[in-house]
Amino acid sequence: MATPIVAPFPAARLRRLRRTANLRAMVHEVNLTAADLIWPIFVTEVAGAEGEIASMPGVERLTLDGAKRAAERAARLNIPAICIFPHSDQDLKTESCERAWDPDNIGNRAIRAIKETVPDLAVMTDIALDPYNANGHDGLVVDGEILNDETVEALVRMALAQAEAGADILGPSDMMDGRIGALRGALEGAGHRHVAILSYAAKFASAFYGPFRDAVGASGRLVGDKKTYQVNPANREEALRCVARDLAEGADMVMVKPGMPYLDICREVKDRFAAPTFAYQVSGEYAMLEGAIRNGWLSREVMLESLLAFRRAGCDGVLSYFAPSVAEMLA
Ligand code: PBG
Repeated sequence: MATPIVAPFPAARLRRLRRTANLRAMVHEVNLTAADLIWPIFVTEVAGAEGEIASMPGVERLTLDGAKRAAERAARLNIPAICIFPHSDQDLKTESCERAWDPDNIGNRAIRAIKETVPDLAVMTDIALDPYNANGHDGLVVDGEILNDETVEALVRMALAQAEAGADILGPSDMMDGRIGALRGALEGAGHRHVAILSYAAKFASAFYGPFRDAVGASGRLVGDKKTYQVNPANREEALRCVARDLAEGADMVMVKPGMPYLDICREVKDRFAAPTFAYQVSGEYAMLEGAIRNGWLSREVMLESLLAFRRAGCDGVLSYFAPSVAEMLA
């Protein structure tokens, strides 16, 4: 019998295009560049509080000078934006949180310092009362209740002070109802038409924020938890409604937070709303990966893989404490 000309073969040899680096490069579907990163930094006004955060090895609380140097580093690495988180004096935290809209609070001083040093770098802020609140909550607390509408008024004051200081992007992370519309209206009214809003739209009540609360000095203070305003991790539909609502109220961009355990939400938000979509790879995710890397249990490549996964899930960009190290690896 003659040998058949067509030998039996698997219907699809998917390994064919994985054979060499160039073939793999030709067919890669998403990529990660420094332009996809937003770098969150902590800035302190408390003498002696600068330096490494115990639960976030490799991440430091910075002085104002340190923040300027970080901005220069971001610019050198082509990271387009930095996000400022203030660590303020414990003695200046009050129940009414008035420091939150003080033009000279540490957050606003950091905005001005960075804009003076690297004017082109986009500066993002966090809008929530927790860094200045005696009880650690994102909203005003009266008789154990987190007040919604009164908090929104305070957030508006905070936002206007940040816009005045030169912020390019405001990041409301408080999860009060109606804040996006209120902020947008106030910004337009005050002539800050170009200031963008990146809403922490689908923000879940997560245990992954633990190290962040150490970083901003809120850990010992938080009375109770944030479950009356942040979304239950079990709820996908509610998260989508938050995103729909925030976009309708005028958010320019939306965020899913935390990131890695919520990639399903990222994909669905992108598919449904086709809006600029970001994820926050939060402090606990950083601590988990960096801790394992430092112990030699995981290789540094997990940083890239974890961030690429956000791109695959539809995100336009990611807030990550790995931003400078990853940008260095990519350079
Ligand atoms: C608070 C805020 C939090 C984070 C960003 N803004 C913590 C919280 O909601 O308790 C978390 C970021 C992180 O964990 O890296 N408004």
